[in-house]
Amino acid sequence: MARRKLVAGNWKMNGDRAALAELDGIAAAAAVHTDVDVAVAVPATLIAGAAERVPALAIGAQDVHPADRGAYTGCLSAPMLIEAGARFAIVGHSERRADQCESDILVAAKAEALHRAGLQAIVCVGETLEQRDAGEAERVVTAQVEGSLPEDVSADWCAIAYEPIWAIGTGRTPTIDDVAAMHRAIRAKLRDLLGERADGFRLLYGGSVSPDNAAALLDAEDVDGALVGGASLTAAKFVPIIAAASR
Ligand code: PGA
Repeated sequence: MARRKLVAGNWKMNGDRAALAELDGIAAAAAVHTDVDVAVAVPATLIAGAAERVPALAIGAQDVHPADRGAYTGCLSAPMLIEAGARFAIVGHSERRADQCESDILVAAKAEALHRAGLQAIVCVGETLEQRDAGEAERVVTAQVEGSLPEDVSADWCAIAYEPIWAIGTGRTPTIDDVAAMHRAIRAKLRDLLGERADGFRLLYGGSVSPDNAAALLDAEDVDGALVGGASLTAAKFVPIIAAASR
């Protein structure tokens, strides 16, 4: 099944208003490579400024609260993100799973909240190095997929990012064969859970994607895009990755 590639940037806790200038070049590349969906998850403080600056580019958030409103000091809801100009959010990133103790159940509730509000979701999963070395990677990741997707999940609004934790920000990546094998395992789990509806889901790879390795990773079997951290911070590095996803 042909799926459009999605290349999403994750700025994490980086960037200020001056950094929004990088989005000009990224938006220009997105306008050239119309066969690729391009998105950038900026810090929440920059969502409105980014969406105003590059209205054609999909700007998103890096987290969301599962409730629409209420006494949740410091949190942001999906309706708030929409009002700011977001079109999607990342949920379940390993940095949040580890630093904020986020569980699969919470991640699923966050994805559901995004859908309720009409936002797209990128749900992240991935194993630690210890789990990979112990031969547990596929079991851990497919269990995360099962636990982190809400019951009514659909490829219309959800993509899944496989991000081995040991590959994030380290310059290390799995082999192409290991990436393809994991994406096959995730697809098989989705088929178990959702039947034919599984085929529409875009499976992104994330973890040290760079201009040098993007083409090989994006060409791997069942890889439908990339979630890019460090290399998404500048147009100079992110644009070649967008180009690598374009045919
Ligand atoms: P990285 O981050 O590309 O800097 O490794 C990826 C991510 O955490 O989404």
